[in-house]
Amino acid sequence: MLPYFSDKYGNASSLHAFGQIAAKAVNQARENIAKLLNCGIEEVIFTSGATEADNLAVFGLVNALRKNNNDKLHIITSAIEHPAVLEPLKILAGQGVEVTYLPVGKSGLVDLEIFKKSIKDNTVLVSIMYVNSEIGIIEPIREIGEVIEKINAERAGQGGKKRIYFHTDAVQALNFLDCDTKKLHLDLLSFSGHKIYGPKGIGVLFVKSGTPIQGLQLGGHHEKNLRSGTLNVPGIVGLAEALRTCSRDREKNNKKILKLRNNFVAAVKKRIKNVRVNTDLKKSTPSLASISFVGAEGESILIALDLSGVAVSTGSACASASLKASPVLLAIGIKEETCHSTIRFSFGKNNTEAEVKKVLKILPPIIERLRKMAP
Ligand SMILES: Cc1ncc(COP(=O)(O)O)c(C=O)c1O
Repeated sequence: MLPYFSDKYGNASSLHAFGQIAAKAVNQARENIAKLLNCGIEEVIFTSGATEADNLAVFGLVNALRKNNNDKLHIITSAIEHPAVLEPLKILAGQGVEVTYLPVGKSGLVDLEIFKKSIKDNTVLVSIMYVNSEIGIIEPIREIGEVIEKINAERAGQGGKKRIYFHTDAVQALNFLDCDTKKLHLDLLSFSGHKIYGPKGIGVLFVKSGTPIQGLQLGGHHEKNLRSGTLNVPGIVGLAEALRTCSRDREKNNKKILKLRNNFVAAVKKRIKNVRVNTDLKKSTPSLASISFVGAEGESILIALDLSGVAVSTGSACASASLKASPVLLAIGIKEETCHSTIRFSFGKNNTEAEVKKVLKILPPIIERLRKMAP
C-alpha cells in the first residue's frame, strides 16, 4: 500500500500518467479479487466498507426495482443480521416493503424449510449473512442459493414473475470459508478489508451482471455509476493483498485457530462453573466463542480483562447510555439477564497458546470476584 500514499499518489480517474499508474494498480487489484470470488472484474464494486456495501445491496436493488414498478415487494432476511442490513430494511418496511425476519434455532441456524415456506410471489430479495459476527454460526448459504436458483428457473418459464435476488454479508466468512459467488449462487456479496487483516475503510460489493441496482451516492459516476467518489487506491491495493493472503492461508489458519478456540472453551467449562457456551463449536467458524458467565456482569468482565491486557467484547450492544441485550443472543433463546453476562472471545491467526493460557489463568478469579459482588 505504501507507494500509493506517496510516490504513486495519482487519482485513478485521471487521464494523465500519474493517474494511469494508480488506475493500473486498481485494475490489478480488481482482477485479483474477481479471481478469488470467481466472478467478472466488472462485478467488483469498491465501497468504503461492508456497511456501505450492505446498504447499497439492499437500497440499491429495491430502488432499481421500484423505478418503473409500484408493486408491493417482499424481502426475506434473518433475525440475526448485522444492523448494516437490518436498519436499511427497517426504513424500507416503513415505506411499505414487506419484510420477513426468519427465526433461528438454538445454534443460530436459519431453518431451510421455514425459509422455503416464507417465499412469496412478490419476494425479490433474500439477504442472509454467511457467518454471524457474535456467535460465529455458518448459515447454509449454498443451500439457500440452490432453492432460490430453482425457483428463479421455474419463474423464468412462467413469464412476468419476479426474480429473487440473493445477497449475503460475508464479512465474517472470508477468513475461513471459500466465497465462490457461483458455487454459492449469489447475486450480491459484501465484505470489508479490516476483517481479513487488511486496511479499514475499504470494502467490496459483488454485483452479478444483470442485477438491477442503483447507486446511492450521486456525483462522479465512478464504479459503473454504483459508487461515486474518488477511489481509495492504497485501500484497494491492501484489500486485494489481504484477500489473496487469507485465501492462500485459509486452511492452515483454520486448523490453528480451531485448536486454540476449542481448547480454550473446554478449559473454561472445566475451570468455571455455571457457564453457557452460546457458540455451536461444530457449526461455526473457529474465530469466535460467545460465553455467558451467569451471575457476572459482562462489561465488568471486559474491563477487568482489559486491565490485564486482554481485549474482548461483550455480547451486548452498547446503545447510547443504556445497555441493551444483544438481539442475536435473544434470538437464539438466551434469557435477557444471561445476555448481559456474555463475553465474545475472538481468535485470530496471530493468537498463541501462551495467550490462551494467560486468559485461562486470569479469568476464573475475575468471574469469582464479580459473582460475589453481584446483587
Ligand atoms: C457481519 C458484519 N457486517 C457488516 C459489518 C460492517 O463492516 P464495516 O465496518 O466494514 O462497515 C461488520 C463489522 O463489524 C460485520 O461484522
